[in-house]
Amino acid sequence: MKIDVLPYYGKQTDNHLYNTTVIVVDVLRATTCMICALNGGADKIVPTVDAGDAVAIAGRLGQRECVLGGERGGIKISGFDLGNSPKEYLGRAVKNKTVIVSTTNGTGAIHSVRSADMVMLGAMINRTAVAKAAAARGDDVLIVCAGTEHQPSADDLCTAGAIIDAMHYYADFAEGDLSDMALICEKLYADMRDGSFDIKKTFHCARLLRLGFEEDVDFCFEEDATDTVPVYRDGIIQKL
Ligand code: MLT
Repeated sequence: MKIDVLPYYGKQTDNHLYNTTVIVVDVLRATTCMICALNGGADKIVPTVDAGDAVAIAGRLGQRECVLGGERGGIKISGFDLGNSPKEYLGRAVKNKTVIVSTTNGTGAIHSVRSADMVMLGAMINRTAVAKAAAARGDDVLIVCAGTEHQPSADDLCTAGAIIDAMHYYADFAEGDLSDMALICEKLYADMRDGSFDIKKTFHCARLLRLGFEEDVDFCFEEDATDTVPVYRDGIIQKL
């Protein structure tokens, strides 16, 4: 089994995704929020790249059925019910509802891998659960990081490293099975854990802290808080 990491999403070729389990990571904060929404009792999640599409889908479903969530530049989209803070998705707001979400990078990353056989969502809060589920399939694994505005984002790379770290418990790897990017992510995660790499100084994390989202950042970096593994299939995200 081979593991590779795309540091930020782009146009994936079908060839790249063939016989591959894809794990999309947007730890700050889109995939963390989606895991929370399912834990909060959401029926399903519909991710859209465009905020207007989210509004149109909500209009078709009607207000009682759904909740609109998302952000641009970290800030709640005007007129939406929820922003992109994980705790907003844990409560009554989402229970038994369809959550329609549009975010700056995360929903684009999910959409970019829609042709893969299996797309799971990963974050720190489910890193071991998603590693176990991906390893159990036995296919090669591609971790697609959302990144920030088409640049690598260290928070996602560390999370990719954390997932790969957990995978060692569930699969044996031969020399060369982990790509150079996978090895770099593992090293970054190890450095974050031992305190020699300060995630809070990196671009997206620092921006969220400036915007007052310290509680979100701390929540998003709690490891293994849940066993929930969301799966994206036919435009919809539900529990595995
Ligand atoms: C995104 O999709 O870009 C993010 O999740 C941004 C954020 O709200 O932190």
